Amino acid sequence: MTGPPPGAWDVLSLLPDLPGEALHARVARSLRSTVLRGVLAEGSRLPGHRRLAGQLGVSRNTLVDALAQLEAEGYVQVRGRSGTVVSVPGAPAPAGTATGPLPLSAWAERALDGRVADAAGEFRVDFRVGQPVAELYPEAAWTQALARRAGQIGQQPTALLDPLGPLETRRALAAYLNAERSARVTPEMVMLTAGTQSALDALARVFLEAGRVAAVEDPTYAGARAALAATGAALSPVRVDDQGLQPGDLPDSATLVYTTPGCQYPTTVALPAARRQALVAWAQQVNALILEDDYAADLHHSARPPAVLQGLAPERVILLGTFSKVLAPVTRSGFLVAPPEVIRVLAGTRPLTDRGPGTLDALALADVLSSGAYARHLRRVRPLIRHRQEVLIAALAGQSLGEQWPSWPARVAASGLHVYLPLPQGLSEADLEHRAARQGVALTLLGPFTGGDHPPAALLGFAHLPPEDLREGVRRLGRALRN
Ligand SMILES: Cc1ncc(COP(=O)(O)O)c(C=O)c1O
Repeated sequence: MTGPPPGAWDVLSLLPDLPGEALHARVARSLRSTVLRGVLAEGSRLPGHRRLAGQLGVSRNTLVDALAQLEAEGYVQVRGRSGTVVSVPGAPAPAGTATGPLPLSAWAERALDGRVADAAGEFRVDFRVGQPVAELYPEAAWTQALARRAGQIGQQPTALLDPLGPLETRRALAAYLNAERSARVTPEMVMLTAGTQSALDALARVFLEAGRVAAVEDPTYAGARAALAATGAALSPVRVDDQGLQPGDLPDSATLVYTTPGCQYPTTVALPAARRQALVAWAQQVNALILEDDYAADLHHSARPPAVLQGLAPERVILLGTFSKVLAPVTRSGFLVAPPEVIRVLAGTRPLTDRGPGTLDALALADVLSSGAYARHLRRVRPLIRHRQEVLIAALAGQSLGEQWPSWPARVAASGLHVYLPLPQGLSEADLEHRAARQGVALTLLGPFTGGDHPPAALLGFAHLPPEDLREGVRRLGRALRN
């Protein structure tokens, strides 16, 4: 048995504490680290309890607890009267160990490349899209449903664990979609997701890889483009005009197309019937899948949102839906509807990532949908969204921009939470952003949503802002352009 190297005990001290860490665990971590660094060789005897506790500034009981833990882990042996002895060899870190970059996969590199940075800063009026709208949250109905279901969830945990989500919720969703959106859905065609982004990721990994082609609207939702491109598949842009995607641009080589026919993101136009038919005909001809992102379904400003494309071709269309906007983004509740053979594949691959959706939220969702509370809530909030849009459009129309720019030709959307604003001739996106920021106004630019050249435009999120802020924001934009 050897004694410690000269001075080794002097280096025994407590490491900085960690949040929530008990004192005996901190003592154990500090001693463990000393052993692992090779400061105390195998066979070294520790000082007596009284001395060591004094040196560390802890009570003897705390030290005894720490040593018991280290003994259970095999770092030391307590040998009665002969003291406590280090029982593992230390492994001193070689001097100058290099810490190189993380060994990221090509998928991770591509995924990180696809991110869109957001401007930081404080603004008096923040028109940027994607902000939660407090009034959209059905607080009473959701709270009641959660409380009721929380009391039941312990009773049958395994029966409810289905990678597709509880059958009860899938039934409620199928009924809701058939009744409200003219979809053609059975519960077996529904999978609950943690929102549309997770659905896109799951589908991208199942259907895409390097060497395949995904057609995407251009401009489009950056999160979709990033998820599809991260697989290594080539993206083929499909131009969008004032009627939505142009079917003539759809490539024969595509495995799938990502589209937002209900309310093109971000230009807000609805795809007319003739183009819907052309899109389905193309998919049938080239054997492609259509990913229909119906993100704005429940945000339609009128009582009767248009039918989903899925109802036209349930064997080709995968419908993606989200409750991110209406229930609040933090619930991460969404769903996809797909042909049964696609659902079988997803049910098989999902257990590799997350086993299934959060059951409590899913069951609460079933209640909110089937009790009619969700539909009633939408009836209440629709007029509020419509009113805010009207306020914004009226303010833009009445705002003088000075001599150089005659007016704002804002597009009046039938759905969604933002207005698409093509910029007047001669005004660039960067120039507008800069001028607006000087007046304390933030907005979203079209640029990051496109893969190529595009006429400049901005997006003004309106639903999260009260009317007085909408008017103030437009006054400031007017000043920004006149100055
Ligand atoms: C067009 C579009 N699709 C999907 C999503 C994402 O939905 P989720 O929050 O369910 O992932 C968004 C979110 O802003 C969106 O704008």
